[in-house]
Amino acid sequence: MDPLDFIISLAREAGTLLAERLDGPRDIALKGRADLVTDADRASEALIVERIHANFPRAAILGEEGGVYSGSGDERFVVDPLDGTTNYAHRYPFFCVSIAYERAGMLEAGAIYGPAIGELYAARRGGVATLNGKPITVSTIGTVNDALVSTGFVVARYERNVANFHKLSAASQGVRRDGSAALDLAFVAAGRLDAFWEWDLKPWDMAAGAVIVEAAGGTVTAIDGSPLDIAVGSVLATNGATHAEMRALLD
Ligand code: IPD
Ligand code: CA
Ligand code: CA
Repeated sequence: MDPLDFIISLAREAGTLLAERLDGPRDIALKGRADLVTDADRASEALIVERIHANFPRAAILGEEGGVYSGSGDERFVVDPLDGTTNYAHRYPFFCVSIAYERAGMLEAGAIYGPAIGELYAARRGGVATLNGKPITVSTIGTVNDALVSTGFVVARYERNVANFHKLSAASQGVRRDGSAALDLAFVAAGRLDAFWEWDLKPWDMAAGAVIVEAAGGTVTAIDGSPLDIAVGSVLATNGATHAEMRALLD
């Protein structure tokens, strides 16, 4: 099976599971200060892991909620079964499933599905980025002065981002902080946001989104401008035209 087709249908299936549970009783636990996990995160990941094992039995898996398997080939799936858990726990409809497919250490395809907003983003490396099957591209905004930008942060470590939030609030048309890094990246790909940055992300927060932003014509690096390494956690994704200026503003 084509890995992109597979992760698209899998993101849709897991996202549907999340949506079905959204209004029912949820079991919410704390992994740390304001770091939530719900029964829906775990159910979504269990479903995803089961489907990967059935369809790509040799593939490794890196899943946020403990779904870590070493595999026996050079393929790996990087899975956030629910990105935006705090939003989900409050029934704030900005959350998604994010699944990336890697081969030989290279990100090859990504799929992000936000069931409450009815949006499925997908791309393969070097291909066309799509939203619900239609091609999308990044914006053509040329300066941060004209840009709508977004960021995110782990609540327990918000201090690190305060100075940059302040700086970008003054320099741009607005800074959003909406609680799902994967959807933030998807919105950069769709040209709704012109730039997004965050420190301290995990591989599953950004792997699929990075593929989709690049396929949409954007630029994705670490915040210091070095090549993106999903294991490191620092990401700056822009429409390309604002990248150097964003990089210079952030510290
Ligand atoms: C979080 C979200 C949030 C970001 C945090 C992530 P989770 O993921 O992507 O936007 O600011 O850094 O941990 O915990 O909801 O999967
Ligand atoms: Ca996440
Ligand atoms: Ca998650």
